[in-house]
Amino acid sequence: MKQQLLSRKATCNSHGQDSSYFLGWQEYEKNPYDEIKNPRGIIQMGLAENQLSFDLIESWLANNPDPVSLMRDNVSIFRELALFQDYHGMPAFKEALARFMSEIRENKVHFDPSKLVLTAGATSANETLMFCLAERGDAFLLPTPYYPGFDRDLKWRTGVEIIPIHCSSSNGFQITENALEDAYRRAQKKKLRVKGVLITNPSNPLGTTAKRGELDLLLRFIAVKGIHLISDEIYSGTVFSSPDFTSIAEALKEVKDYDKVRNQVHIVYSLSKDLGLPGFRVGAIYSDNDTVVAAATKMSSFGLVSSQTQYLLSAILSDKKFTRNYIEENHKRLKERHSMLVQGLKNAGIGTLESNAGLFCWVDMRHLLSSKTFEGEMELWKKILFEVGLNISPGSSCHCTEPGWFRMCFANMSQDTLNLSMERLKNFVDRVDQLRSRRRSKNLSMVANWVFRLSSSNRERGRS
Ligand SMILES: Cc1ncc(COP(=O)(O)O)c(C=O)c1O
Repeated sequence: MKQQLLSRKATCNSHGQDSSYFLGWQEYEKNPYDEIKNPRGIIQMGLAENQLSFDLIESWLANNPDPVSLMRDNVSIFRELALFQDYHGMPAFKEALARFMSEIRENKVHFDPSKLVLTAGATSANETLMFCLAERGDAFLLPTPYYPGFDRDLKWRTGVEIIPIHCSSSNGFQITENALEDAYRRAQKKKLRVKGVLITNPSNPLGTTAKRGELDLLLRFIAVKGIHLISDEIYSGTVFSSPDFTSIAEALKEVKDYDKVRNQVHIVYSLSKDLGLPGFRVGAIYSDNDTVVAAATKMSSFGLVSSQTQYLLSAILSDKKFTRNYIEENHKRLKERHSMLVQGLKNAGIGTLESNAGLFCWVDMRHLLSSKTFEGEMELWKKILFEVGLNISPGSSCHCTEPGWFRMCFANMSQDTLNLSMERLKNFVDRVDQLRSRRRSKNLSMVANWVFRLSSSNRERGRS
């Protein structure tokens, strides 16, 4: 088909799928690891999926056949669900979701279901917010490193620009006032109107929760600049150890002065990570801004959550005994997995950023780079992908400004597979070390030879 027949959107390549983040997935698809069928295949460590607590949901489903077979009190509600298409969502589901969101935050905040907009995942929630808050050519500031999918979700169809807030390893990648102001100035220099800041808390890819000071800084910043703050809290239920998670909703509630920015703060949530259900496509926007809620609700027509999904999940999430047990057990399992990964990496001489949340670690492989550049990072990434057989995400795909950091996921595979991945990585690091020490001793012996030759020729000259 001639290109002119298609839209510019359809033919431009700003979707971001050619990033190494997605290329790694493609390589994995060609040669996926399987214990029996393909034991030398690539292990997928680039996918932030939570498969650790599926058995808990499966056993709930087995014990509750009614909602699974679209029944209520033994009567089929198939017809009711088949016809339901209200973009306001099912009241019972919104209530259950709002309550679950509070429970994850230890009931320190209460979410009002009428301020909740249902969307097909956080992907749709983030894009919808862009459509509500910004025009084409406006900018959002995002702290780096950030989730690679944002290039697609925030920019592609909306025409909104992302300006990175450069964070560095020197303070554990925390957001500082200088970094915020610097990003704001860079946007202005590019003649972009800044409409807001978007953070992920807990952070993808860092696996850390935002410090209270960072949240206060952000709330003061958006108050001064008169802009929005989006807090993507998709990982809020994955916080497995201290420090505690503070939702932006909690920070807002605690300081009276923040009332004036209440309308500028929006929360994104989804069940893709906490319940491990990315295939169900369930997300939400929570906002105190009535106009945003009304506009986003209308827009949600383009990405509704299906009625049978809402029905099933309202039954699961309304079971308080189940949710309490699930949250607790899921935390425990994530914590165990996280320490397995950290320990495995440590055995291979690899450090990680200290973290307490998420489904991944932010791994420091700077010492394994052949050169401290992004070319060096790509070279190492390719070796790890093709020679070691691990698909991990390079920091550059997350817009990290320091080469040598990688994101490694730990909750989408079995314990045995995680152990195997660590074994492969350790063998690789051992090989690199051996090669380096061989090279070092070769260099040393070359220098020794050279010194020997130099001193013996000096001796000869002295004799003559
Ligand atoms: C920070 C963040 N936001 C949004 C998403 C998209 O989530 P969903 O599957 O709910 O669309 C992801 C998925 O990895 C994510 O990490």
